[in-house]
Amino acid sequence: MDDAALLALPKAELHLHIEGTLEPELAFALAARNDVTLPYADVASLRRAQAFTDLQDFLDLYYACMAVLRTEDDFADLAAAYLTKAAAQGVRHAEIFFDPQAHTSRGIPIATVVRGLRRGIETAAQDTGVHADLIACFLRDRPVAEAHETLDALSPFFDVIVGVGLDSAEVGYPPALFADVFDRARDAGLHVVAHAGEEGPPDYIWEALDVLGIERIDHGIRCLESPALVRRLSSDRIPLTTCPLSNVRLRCVPTLSEHPLPAMLDAGLVVTVNSDDPAYFGGYVGDNFLAVRRDLGITDDALITLARDSFTASFVDDELRTRWLTELDGPRSLRP
Ligand code: ADE
Ligand code: ZN
Repeated sequence: MDDAALLALPKAELHLHIEGTLEPELAFALAARNDVTLPYADVASLRRAQAFTDLQDFLDLYYACMAVLRTEDDFADLAAAYLTKAAAQGVRHAEIFFDPQAHTSRGIPIATVVRGLRRGIETAAQDTGVHADLIACFLRDRPVAEAHETLDALSPFFDVIVGVGLDSAEVGYPPALFADVFDRARDAGLHVVAHAGEEGPPDYIWEALDVLGIERIDHGIRCLESPALVRRLSSDRIPLTTCPLSNVRLRCVPTLSEHPLPAMLDAGLVVTVNSDDPAYFGGYVGDNFLAVRRDLGITDDALITLARDSFTASFVDDELRTRWLTELDGPRSLRP
């Protein structure tokens, strides 16, 4: 399979923060449109600021850049731009995270955010055929009461929101803090996922499973430190949505060639490859596939398994899943 074929391979993206798709060019365009001043002179200096020391260092820039997102049109343009790029890298379906509290805390109504994202999804679907759903993430470094208020405010939009997640600064904010709000989300029929084991310890992954009842772990790379946890994740077939380029840029892993993806596959875990915050970490999901092949020697068969598992681990209905799996397993012009 050549690079173009790997990019074109049908895949789903299951770990993607829409605010993390804000490219510097779009950030400056929206800043001008909304009369907002970014604390950087130009695109080049914003790009230079993307040399991160850790997750918090990244989050500081990520939240600062969100100041340019103000209107329904802004959110629609952001979602359509991401999905158009993703579709060009083989994405058939995306489960898109968004951070409601990062906007409501700036006075932007939740309806503005969700209506805009929904419109962007519809526009991209018409233009490219790509399909997408939304997952609302609670910010774990903000008060638990605020997560409850956020869930209440999201309830009119459960047609397009298929689940809730948990993100932002991990260490010091264990999943169990959010047990009640995750119970409420599950009772409302939403899917539940959580970031765990990105910077945080394996105990946070156990808690996400046992206390929050999550269906997928986002990142989860530190599970390898606990053989008992690896056995649990593999016997329950809990998918882990890894983000290789992100892990290197946030220094969770020193270099891509030391990334634990091959060890996770060898351990029999269900793994997917994703981009996390592609505008900040140097690549979209197809670029992550290319990078793990180049630096980790992932074989074509394993790359196809990763693409297949992206559909099996998704929250779509069986009709859509079967359509994409059939396309993936069907005749591939690229096959040797
Ligand atoms: N929010 C956006 N990207 C994130 C990441 N990699 N970890 C935690 N929270 C995030
Ligand atoms: Zn993430």
